[in-house]
Amino acid sequence: MAEADATASGEEAYREACAECHRSPERLVRGMRGDESERRERLEAFLIDHHAPDEGMRQSVIAYLLSL
Ligand code: HEC
Repeated sequence: MAEADATASGEEAYREACAECHRSPERLVRGMRGDESERRERLEAFLIDHHAPDEGMRQSVIAYLLSL
């Protein structure tokens, strides 16, 4: 899947699975420290047990969050 597609479906998945509790996705990622690969790793480890058990959906949401 192209990066842009993953980001777009990640935004949709975020709205469905995350937005009810996290109104602002920017706020979530802005507070995270580290470079992109460290943030990706941290999100990956955290989200697997936090409302994003599906691998494909999780990767899309992570791509979306890191694009902000
Ligand atoms: C039912 C409410 C709820 C849903 C749905 C939810 N979250 Fe959360 N999230 C929380 C709460 C409460 C916390 C803070 C407590 C904790 O760390 O578990 C949190 C913490 C986080 C953190 C860590 C923030 C930090 O500073 O450590 C991230 C990142 C995050 N959520 C992302 C997501 C994403 C992405 C989704 C969708 C896949 C999602 N959340 C869905 C309630 C929710």
